[in-house]
Formats: sequence, C-alpha cells, structure tokens
Amino acid sequence: MTAKPMTKKPLDQINNAALHERRLAATPRGVGVMAGFYVDRALNAEVWDIEGNRYIDFAGGIAVLNTGHRHPALVAAIEAQLKRFTHTCYQVLPYEGYVTLAERINALTPGSHTKKTAFFSSGAEAVENAVKIARSSTGRAGIIAFSGGFHGRTMMGCALTGKVVPYKVGFGPFPSEVYHLPFPMDVHGVTVEDALHALETLFKADIEPNRVAAIIIEPVQGEGGFYIAPPELMRGLRTVCDAHGILLIYDEVQTGFGRTGKLFAAEHYDVLPDIMTMAKSMAGGMTLSAVCGRAEVMDAPAPGGLGGTYAGNPLAVAASHAVIDVIEQEKLVERSNRLGEKLMARLTAAQSRVPALKEVRGLGSMVAAEFFDPATGAPSPDAVKRVQQAALD
Ligand SMILES: Cc1ncc(COP(=O)(O)O)c(C=O)c1O
Repeated sequence: MTAKPMTKKPLDQINNAALHERRLAATPRGVGVMAGFYVDRALNAEVWDIEGNRYIDFAGGIAVLNTGHRHPALVAAIEAQLKRFTHTCYQVLPYEGYVTLAERINALTPGSHTKKTAFFSSGAEAVENAVKIARSSTGRAGIIAFSGGFHGRTMMGCALTGKVVPYKVGFGPFPSEVYHLPFPMDVHGVTVEDALHALETLFKADIEPNRVAAIIIEPVQGEGGFYIAPPELMRGLRTVCDAHGILLIYDEVQTGFGRTGKLFAAEHYDVLPDIMTMAKSMAGGMTLSAVCGRAEVMDAPAPGGLGGTYAGNPLAVAASHAVIDVIEQEKLVERSNRLGEKLMARLTAAQSRVPALKEVRGLGSMVAAEFFDPATGAPSPDAVKRVQQAALD
C-alpha cells in the first residue's frame, strides 16, 4: 500500500478562517471552542493570533493563569527542570520537588493539623482521587454534591457535576451513590435553610448518614456562575459531617491560588475541610492537580492505590514552585482583592445604565455579573451572549 502524500497548505493560507474549516473537519464538535481566532503567542494578559491581531485575555485559560502567560519566573523554572529530567513517573523514581511541593501545600492550606498531599494531572483527576480517598477512609460509598456545581468531565466528575447540559447529556450511566443538594443562591430565592433542609430530607428519603463518605462543595461555584457559599452553609455542613463521621471536601480547583482574595477560599470560612482539591492556577498552565487532606484520611488507601503515570510531572511541579514564589513575591493575593474591588465598583456603577444587569457579586477576583430580562424578570442568556460578543469584538 502506498501512503497518501501529506497535504500541507502554504503558509499564507494558514489564517483564522482556513483553520476554522480544518478544525470542523478534523476535530469532534463535542470539543466546542469559544473564540473564532487561533493563538500564535501570549504574554502576561495579552494574546496574539496567527493573523497578528492583539487581544486582552479575559479568560486566562479558565482560571489557570493567575500569574499571567509565560511569567519569566515560571519559564526559568521549567527551562531549568527541562535540562535535568522531564519524566520518571514519581512512583517509580521519586524526586525532591514533589516532596517539597507537598510540604509547601501542607503548610499553606488552612488548619494546623497534620496534612499530606498527593499530586495528579487534571482537576477532574484530583476530584476522582478525593472521592477514592474519602471512600477508602470511611468505608462508605455515598457522596453528596450540589446542583449547579462542576467537578470535571470524567465519569465520577460528571456524576458529581450538578448540571446536565452540556456535561452529562448522553454520557450515562454514571457511578451510583451520588446525591445532589440545592446550592444557596439569593438571587434565585434559594436559601441556606433550603439547602440544609434538603440534606435532612435526603437522609430520610435516599441514604442514611452513616453510608455517606463525603460532602463535596466548591466554596465559590466556578462554572456554575460564581455563586459564593455562605459561611452559615459551611458551618451547617461541618456540623452535620461531624455528627455523622462524614468527610467535608472543598473543591478548590478553581478557587485556589489567590483567585478569591485569599490563597485558598477555605480561608474565608471559620470551619475547615477534611480534604481539598486544587489544580488550574497551581502550575500556571502546566498540568498539575493535588489532593491535600488530614494525614490519617490521606493515608487510608494502600500503597499503589493512588498515583498515575504523569501524576506530579516534574516540569509541572517546578512550575508550581515558581507560581507559589510569584504569588508571594508579587503579593498577588492582595492584587486579587484590588482587581475584584475595581471590577465590582465599575459593574455596580453600570447597573443604573443597564437594567438587565440584576446582580453583581464577588469574592476577590471571582466577580459575577448576572443578567435578567427586565420585562419578564427571568434570567437572560441573550443579554449574556451580547455582552460576551461585545467583549470578544
Ligand atoms: C471546581 C472544579 N472542579 C473540577 C474541575 C475539573 O478540572 P479539569 O478541567 O482540570 O479536569 C473544574 C474545571 O473547571 C472546576 O472548576
């Protein structure tokens, strides 16, 4: 059989429109993309496309670039590691950076109790492993999550995610023993009492508390719309967890590393989680995630039960050390608060001119603007699309 010659377009034909056509032909529509241009390079908060157009990057790779694109300290750390080794598989040949990073995370996360940390590659993988650890530690199966929450695109991630469209459609059945509670949202009339009452009902209707391993919650729902978990909710959950031997997991994949005006959103609350997941901005775009928790809980799975070929990749670990240094040296947590305050002030001022802008809320730099149709009082996806398009333009 003779191989077909590769068809390669001349360079001058590689433009946004041509790549768009090739993307549609070569990649599945399930991998949806938002922007109609293709990135050539990026620096700090700016991106240039393959046609030389320059943009401000409001997305930051979905909460991954709290230190900006290609921060010099990150580039230097990755380059230095690149010259030493790029992969050994930590479980086969361990390295110091992994251990030191675990020590740093254990010290930086809230609570003076003894902690341990394991590294993985994606946020969903951290969530999967948090569930495995919770089940192993409690010997129980049930996991309670929240509607509107997002925990990743793996099967357990989908099961925990409280949003059917687009994450669950056509992908079931999902792992069983997963239950959802309503997430308090003032603007939609859902209160903390509603959420805690639903928990009581769940214990009566669906699963007895002593079969529940963990409750998992995002301190600020990210994908769900930047809804902030009220402190009374966290206190209520902690009380229920303590009463029944249930573990409390904060999914800080999106809220961690300075996003909410604290290094971790958990610091906004006066109760501690037993387990935390983190990813995204922890390695500035290199693929790294972590599960940090009480030492005795983290030690429940037997050797070999946790890990992964690429889990805690040395380049990503080196990048994460640099991210933590930069956050400290450049006082990015304080900056997150300043930027958030500015954004809140500007958006709040705009409310008098834009009747559809019903609510502005935020914690640090996680600021949301929620649009309603002033005529019907219903949420307005159309208004959102118009604002997104204007921003993209
Ligand atoms: C709170 C939360 N958990 C889990 C995930 C999944 O992370 P990943 O996309 O890295 O698998 C996300 C991603 O947006 C997230 O926001």
